[in-house]
Amino acid sequence: MRLSLRFVLPLLIALGLLAYAVTPLIEKLTVRWFERDLELRANLIANTINEPLSELLRAGDTSRVQKFFVRIAQDERIFAIAYCASPAEAPLATESLPGGVQCAQLEALADSANQYLPGSTGQLLILARPMATEAAPSGKLILIHDVTFMSRRGAETRRYLFYFFVALGLVVSLITVVIAQLSWRGWMHGLRTMARGEGLMRPSQGFDSPELLPIANDLRALVREIQAEHRSRDEEQVAWTPDTLRDILHRELANQDVIVVSNREPYIHVRNDDAIVIQRPASGLVTALEPVMRACSGTWIAHGSGNADRDVVDARDRINVPVDHPAYMLRRVWLTREEEAGYYYGFANEGLWPLCHIAHVRPTFRTPDFDQYRKVNKRFAEAVVNEATRPDPLVLVQDYHFALLPRLIRDALPDATVITFWHIPWPNPEAFAICPWRDELLDGLLGSSILGFHTQFHCNNFVDTVDRLLEARVDRETFTVSYRRKLTAVKRYPISVDWPPSPELFAKPVDQCRADVRMRHGLPADHAIAIGVDRLDYTKGIEERFRAVERLLEQHPEWVGRFSLLQIAAPTRASIEEYRNYETHVRAEVARINERFSGGLHPPIILEARHHEPAEVYEHFRAAEVCFVSSLHDGMNLVAKEFVSARDDEQGVLVLSQFTGAARELPEALIVNPYDTDQCAAALNIALTMPSRAQRQRMGLMRGLIKEFNVYRWAGRMLIDAATMRRRGQLVDRSPHGHRMPLWPERRAE
Ligand code: F6P
Repeated sequence: MRLSLRFVLPLLIALGLLAYAVTPLIEKLTVRWFERDLELRANLIANTINEPLSELLRAGDTSRVQKFFVRIAQDERIFAIAYCASPAEAPLATESLPGGVQCAQLEALADSANQYLPGSTGQLLILARPMATEAAPSGKLILIHDVTFMSRRGAETRRYLFYFFVALGLVVSLITVVIAQLSWRGWMHGLRTMARGEGLMRPSQGFDSPELLPIANDLRALVREIQAEHRSRDEEQVAWTPDTLRDILHRELANQDVIVVSNREPYIHVRNDDAIVIQRPASGLVTALEPVMRACSGTWIAHGSGNADRDVVDARDRINVPVDHPAYMLRRVWLTREEEAGYYYGFANEGLWPLCHIAHVRPTFRTPDFDQYRKVNKRFAEAVVNEATRPDPLVLVQDYHFALLPRLIRDALPDATVITFWHIPWPNPEAFAICPWRDELLDGLLGSSILGFHTQFHCNNFVDTVDRLLEARVDRETFTVSYRRKLTAVKRYPISVDWPPSPELFAKPVDQCRADVRMRHGLPADHAIAIGVDRLDYTKGIEERFRAVERLLEQHPEWVGRFSLLQIAAPTRASIEEYRNYETHVRAEVARINERFSGGLHPPIILEARHHEPAEVYEHFRAAEVCFVSSLHDGMNLVAKEFVSARDDEQGVLVLSQFTGAARELPEALIVNPYDTDQCAAALNIALTMPSRAQRQRMGLMRGLIKEFNVYRWAGRMLIDAATMRRRGQLVDRSPHGHRMPLWPERRAE
């Protein structure tokens, strides 16, 4: 209807204006026709009565003349008739002639442009015709016509004109609406067909007429453009597996160097008495990147932190890993105690870590720490240059330990593609601005070709920070920062876990896991367990989690002795006082709460503060009724995703902090505010009593998401973006003007 109105309204307005302009013209024309008719009539009457009137005048019989005039004036249009022998004489006229009107006046009016008798109620038109006799050679016959019929007919004409235009408007509107609707449907059908990419030019689809072909072509080009813009290439992939990644590498980045840089190494060699054992660190970063590196090969440069690491590397500090099925190269970088203390414990973990996490721990900034941070970043840049076999490696820089590294790599290898992924949150500009080396850090990060965060919120914070603190051009449409004649794309890549997880993690059936874990902790078979898996870090909300358990038992004493939170806590960053204090507080809270509910047969909290290998962690995930993630602030939190991926029985409930990146992707979890103890306790109770069917529904949806958005997709998206960027860069380099600035993502920086 609105479409029809769009056509009909202007049409009706145009017709209205036309009617408005035409009506007075037509009225004028008809008046002129009537007047001409009356003039002809006047001539006719004058000619017809000339002779008899002359006779009567000659005879001087005025009463017969008047009778003669009365007979003529019986015509309804003739109001009065008079004879004027000369202007000076009184007229010889019918009685209908208004009294007092003289011949001079009548003749003057008849000769004037406006021939109407003034003061008459009806409209009286005066026409004079010569009527010469011997006695009065300048005699005149005066005919006064009643022309009121003219205004009557004028009104009628206007009415008919009005009806005519209304009818015309209706007919034209009707025809327009019908044609518009038919054409619209045809066009829409044609467009839909075209958008679906089906037979575009088939007759009856709206695009068969040759005059529409240019539109069809334009539309198809537009659709292609929009599709390219809105469908990222990773969506073309049906399932993301290690093979998909390998394909991307072979297809898009064949023979290219792929180098990963992180602080934490994926395999740590540790001396255990005389034997050397391999440890897998409790690190989300490693969890995510390791399967990717297995698929991609390439080189992983990391800090060699194990006390037996040096014993197993070759002369160039390299070792092929995993040791049993080598898939990629691990290159270790050695740090002195002093370097590690300043760069890792100091600036990275006492400065940047609390700066980026809103967990109410003040950052500590010390100049000697930052000096070490600078120095170690340079050491890693040298390692990248040494490992690169080409001048244009693809370097994946990981995390807040290496904020300066992207710029150092760019300076040493200008053709490198540097993708930096910041695994922790990025704070708002005001919070970040307190860092004394804020500009240097931002400058370092803007050496990246792409800078990735888990959430759009963190991308926004970063871009706002740059906008506020640096002389850089920020484009919020393409989400790029132009700085020092170089573009950095700021992008969201939500990290994820391996899917499907390695079969060895599922080797033990769920029932067996349940039984073994309960037996190991001396719990009965029907004892309810919530699992917590974290590093002993103050950002993880472990104390808040314990207080929620305490509240649950206060409010639902039926759980006392029947439920326990099993907290796996990997020791971490123990050289930092804040972490040591945190561990002390955590242990004290466990003791206090367990003491308070010591009446039950089993303690409400079981703390396992030691390192657990992935298989053990998965066993606990599969044994628990609930997984409780209560981080106060977390970039993503892979524990939440691992719990979901561990539950192939589609049972178990995830209670998840709203302050994790994962909460944005897993709304089927019970989302809680870890600071709200009552809410967390209520969520725990709901989780523990949730019917199996509801658990299955929620878990099924979450597993669907993780299956679709697994870690291969996370890495694949970055690799695809890097490959696209490299291709565009090559195009620019080959351009006749030889611009060095890559076209990324859509336009050139000025
Ligand atoms: O969350 C940031 C992060 O680097 C994670 O990727 C990882 O899980 C954790 O910190 C490990 O910390 P660290 O290497 O200091 O033990």
